[in-house]
Amino acid sequence: MTQTDTRTEFIARLPKAELHLHIEGSLEPELMFELAQRNGVNIPFASVEEVRAAYDFSNLQDFLDIYYQGMGVLLKEEDFFDLTMAYLERANMDNVRHVEIFFDPQGHTERGVSFDTAIGGILRALDAGEERFGITYRLIMCFLRHLSEEAAFETLAEAEKWLDRIEGVGLDSSEVGHPPSKFARVYAAAREKGLKLVAHAGEEGPPEYVWEALDLLKIDRIDHGNRALEDGALVERIAADGQTLTVCPLSNLKLCVIDRIEHSPVKRMLELGIRATVNSDDPAYFGGYVNANFNAIASALDLSVAELTQLAANSFSGSFLSDADKAAHIAKVSAFARDYQ
Ligand code: HPA
Ligand code: ZN
Repeated sequence: MTQTDTRTEFIARLPKAELHLHIEGSLEPELMFELAQRNGVNIPFASVEEVRAAYDFSNLQDFLDIYYQGMGVLLKEEDFFDLTMAYLERANMDNVRHVEIFFDPQGHTERGVSFDTAIGGILRALDAGEERFGITYRLIMCFLRHLSEEAAFETLAEAEKWLDRIEGVGLDSSEVGHPPSKFARVYAAAREKGLKLVAHAGEEGPPEYVWEALDLLKIDRIDHGNRALEDGALVERIAADGQTLTVCPLSNLKLCVIDRIEHSPVKRMLELGIRATVNSDDPAYFGGYVNANFNAIASALDLSVAELTQLAANSFSGSFLSDADKAAHIAKVSAFARDYQ
């Protein structure tokens, strides 16, 4: 067996959590076509191949334009159920044992699909997936940062009756020009409600946005965070605070955040003492689920078994599971790595 084969098998069997996954970004072209037909929605593509060919992005906005268009086929509760169940089946194949997934309520309410329809279908599938595959979950509701503070407050109000099922809030969509400070009051309100706080920061935006996310939003976890590495004081702060970064290697490549997979910051982050994790972001658009992301950097960065094991352990320690559950998962990661021949 080659070193790559051995590493691929190790990754496949390693227990892991996924902490950065937009459920709408797991909509595969095949399901997009099926739902378009089922719901009588027109999509501007003639075939699955044509859809895939359109997934050629030069930046975040290029992708977002297609991502918001793609979610237009999601109309009914069962559509959200099917979408989420398809992701969980795929995650199970990658031996993902716990997921903390995002959804974009405003991507649906803006086009007349209710908050309840979207969250209802997603949660029903998450419960069914836990039963079927033993995959535990947390659900994080994201605000679209290109929309207003007022719209975010309205979304928070709509979430009120679901708050016992929502773990936290996040911030996504077009980063540059929409700094975290725009949502400081919304995050303060979410914190008051006992919600966990995460935010995309430093994907395309400058290190200042990561500082703002930490200091003004007081986030519990940073999504992406690539550009934090440009600022030594920020790196020290992130490492000292034990902040988790949810890095998405194939997403970074597809959105031209990095120009080659060899430039993924994951190994460097580990070397700097940062709790980095590996995630798929929008796997249907970026070419792979979590194991594909692990495999891509394992060979490009020549990651050791110890580094891969650290990344899997980080995915649990950086999760919102209880301390006891984190410890139980990490013990399984360690036992697997120790016994692996
Ligand atoms: N960045 C910002 N917004 C997003 C992303 C992302 O990677 N995926 C879905 N919405
Ligand atoms: Zn993301």
